[in-house]
Amino acid sequence: MNSLNSSLAIYLIVITLALTLVHVSQAQNSHQDYLDAHNAARAEVVVKPLKWNNTLEAFSRNTSIRRFSTCNAAQVPFEIGENVGEATFPLTGVEAVKLWANEKSYYDYDKNECVGRNCWHYIQVVSNLTVSVGCDRSQCKNGIWAISCYYYPPCDIINRPYD
Ligand SMILES: *[C@@H]1O[C@H](CO)[C@@H](O)[C@H](O)[C@H]1NC(C)=O
Ligand SMILES: *[C@@H]1O[C@H](CO)[C@@H](O)[C@H](O)[C@H]1NC(C)=O
Ligand SMILES: *[C@@H]1O[C@H](CO)[C@@H](O)[C@H](O)[C@H]1NC(C)=O
Repeated sequence: MNSLNSSLAIYLIVITLALTLVHVSQAQNSHQDYLDAHNAARAEVVVKPLKWNNTLEAFSRNTSIRRFSTCNAAQVPFEIGENVGEATFPLTGVEAVKLWANEKSYYDYDKNECVGRNCWHYIQVVSNLTVSVGCDRSQCKNGIWAISCYYYPPCDIINRPYD
């Protein structure tokens, strides 16, 4: 009886944890969550906030579906920008955008180049040319979690991303 009770208790704890994780991850993948994470990084360098773009979200979902089956990067039209984050754990949308925004420490504004590490995700997050974004999150068949965001218009690859 005791042992039945304790395994039941453990079972319930596992279910509760699973529900909490699902809840937390959903709470970090809404349109507003993606926008807030981008716009916080943009506000730091005084760049206008991004708006949500349903067309880009649809493109992202479509791309994710393609990723879901193939797990390969998709081909992206030249008129939009792309940031993709992948992880072996259930990376949330907010976590992915924060990882991109944290590349700020590798961006040298004076030289206008990435120093020590790639910082192109950051440049796209804060680009003053970009007005809208659409993102999606999915899990590939090999278990990898992918967050993909698309940007219109894309960042400038020659000039600085902000004044
Ligand atoms: C979705 O992907 C397919 C296959 O690449 C493509 O033909 C279609 O135009 C895409 N749709 C959108 C909305 O991007
Ligand atoms: C959304 O993105 C598409 C490109 O996929 C672009 O044509 C459209 O103008 C964008 N809408 C807004 C509000 O930025
Ligand atoms: C964006 O910033 C660059 C670099 O300072 C500047 O040359 C450009 O005029 C700015 N563009 C917009 C749309 O604010």
